[in-house]
Amino acid sequence: MADDEPLEHSPTESTGEHVSVFLDAVVAWLAPNASGTYVDCTLGDGGHAAALLTASSPSGRLLGLDADANAVRIATERLEPFGDRAVPVQANFRDLANVAAAHHFRGVDGIVIDLGLSSRQLEGSGRGFSFRREEPLDMRFDPNGAETAAGILARADEEELADLLYEYGEERRSRRVARQIVRRRERTPLVTTGDLVAAVVAALGPRRGRIHPATRTFQALRIAVNDELAALDAVLPQAAGLLAPGGRLAVISFHSLEDRRVKRFFVGGGSDAPLRPLMRRPLRPDAAELARNPRARSAKLRVAERMPPGQVAA
Ligand SMILES: C[S@@+](CC[C@H](N)C(=O)[O-])C[C@H]1O[C@@H](n2cnc3c(N)ncnc32)[C@H](O)[C@@H]1O
Repeated sequence: MADDEPLEHSPTESTGEHVSVFLDAVVAWLAPNASGTYVDCTLGDGGHAAALLTASSPSGRLLGLDADANAVRIATERLEPFGDRAVPVQANFRDLANVAAAHHFRGVDGIVIDLGLSSRQLEGSGRGFSFRREEPLDMRFDPNGAETAAGILARADEEELADLLYEYGEERRSRRVARQIVRRRERTPLVTTGDLVAAVVAALGPRRGRIHPATRTFQALRIAVNDELAALDAVLPQAAGLLAPGGRLAVISFHSLEDRRVKRFFVGGGSDAPLRPLMRRPLRPDAAELARNPRARSAKLRVAERMPPGQVAA
């Protein structure tokens, strides 16, 4: 297992194929039924989607979203055996309500959101998610999306960069890194992962502990490029509103910025569509899952249930 990848992801040793996290737990908690309707907001390689469709045979249906057209292509191939029970769509989950309405999914029985990026994106997309590879600094899930990581590094002023690294990467020495980025870009723009790693190492020194010094900076930039926390804040109430009473929402998060939002929403949010958290503490991967899939090591699963109208969480 490599220990120098972004905090929330370490690569599988293999080809980059994604190993789904909490696969059995998601199926167990969503308890699919044969005529149910489900939504996977983060198709990725289609692992959770395929498991939910299998468990809801013969006539359960699933709407799957992913912002990354390449992920949708791979998931579509994988889900082909399920025929028109699977509806894969390229979309950002921040548009969940509209996408679901357009495909006539309403009052659904279960929704899964498996946040972050897939091993395939980390290792094989060529978009600069991993500091272990020399690639262009893109980091967009949707390559038609807005600004690339290189664009942010070229545009943002030193204070904005420092705030971004502190807020999204929880990088305590964010000012040093930002200063080094600005100093270097005055000579040449930072356009590859190697350029950014060199700037971080110049600011923080070479790796000493288990975590590579560029870990937090890469995480922060990826979150900023994809506006990930705003997308999460946007999707949670839409997901709650899309569930039928008794329907369940399962969210897998990979760092505290995400988990905090999910926890807060499950307890206090969704006033129009109140939820009841089904677990006091998030589920963590057990030893068997960690042995199978090292990238699960920072994963947390929370599940909540939509309450009937008029009922308020105790
Ligand atoms: C961890 S992977 C999902 C893996 C999948 N559950 C599986 O079992 O194969 C996360 C996926 O979510 C997608 N994603 C991240 N943010 C998104 C967003 N705001 N809207 C749509 N897809 C998003 C990424 O492109 C990536 O493919």
